[in-house]
Amino acid sequence: MSELAGASLTYSAPAKINLYLGVGPTRSDGYHDLASLFVALDVYDMLRVRPSDAWHLAVTADSATVSSSAVPVGSDNLVYRAAVALARHTGHPLQARVELSKTIPVAAGLAGGSSDAAAALVALNDLWGTGCTTDDLVAIAATLGSDVPFCLIGGAAVGSGRGEKLDVVPCSAHSLHWVLATSTGELGTRAVYEEFDRLTAGYLVPTPDVPDALLGALTAADPHTVAAHVSNDLQDPAISLMPGLRSVLAAGRDAGALAQVVSGSGPTVAFLTADRAHAGQVQDRLRGVPTVRAALHATGPVAGPAGVVR
Ligand code: C5P
Repeated sequence: MSELAGASLTYSAPAKINLYLGVGPTRSDGYHDLASLFVALDVYDMLRVRPSDAWHLAVTADSATVSSSAVPVGSDNLVYRAAVALARHTGHPLQARVELSKTIPVAAGLAGGSSDAAAALVALNDLWGTGCTTDDLVAIAATLGSDVPFCLIGGAAVGSGRGEKLDVVPCSAHSLHWVLATSTGELGTRAVYEEFDRLTAGYLVPTPDVPDALLGALTAADPHTVAAHVSNDLQDPAISLMPGLRSVLAAGRDAGALAQVVSGSGPTVAFLTADRAHAGQVQDRLRGVPTVRAALHATGPVAGPAGVVR
């Protein structure tokens, strides 16, 4: 093992949205089988790691997008849980000075915590010189949460199982323009899945599948065809728990967005636009909606956690 003496390493941790999220029946372990099309976007948290003889984690938050009180800093923080999992897997002592700088809102359906965990696995594997392969890190990631494996590989991928089994979708970076309307409120993932179960009780929930036409349109970077297939089975449960989402979706639709969808378990809403200028028009309209905290322009797909030269 060759630890990087005195070095400070900085990594980007991108947000994700789901262009498609089909939710199947509840499994015996309480999870749901999914058919998910994940895309990583260029809205980033940043993670800096340095050698230390103990464990330190400091978190700062961009007040435009994140309530600092919402970010867990103790044993609930996914960066800490990722560090513990990597230390256990490799036998390396749990020693690092870590600074997490948050821009991705918490409990927002953008996998911010999952992406921080993925970045921590990559960063500490580099800092500690522990030599894990990407496959090793993906296996550790799956123990931390259903979205963490995708956050590790980034780009675009179809997720099956509970979201952790991934098939990469080839496509050009930064090919689609989005507006992310983040919310003044939060939704817990578990609560939204429970609402899905409540709303579908008594109905046969089919096994979901991502449409081939959507995959082809994403690879071809054709926003109009992508727009025709964007869908999320957690949207109705999210609206049921947070009815104000209806006016956010309507505002983007009225502003001419090509498609609008709640991201993951919400409450962030993702609006697909034709290009940068169109995204600006949609942003302007959304900034007038009282429950919208920030309207962010984002492009994707982008790579997973990457070292940044500072
Ligand atoms: O895997 P993760 O910890 O992110 O999941 C949070 C919660 O979301 C789970 O406890 C479960 O209630 C729900 N979930 C689910 N099916 C999935 C993924 C998550 O029911 N495929």
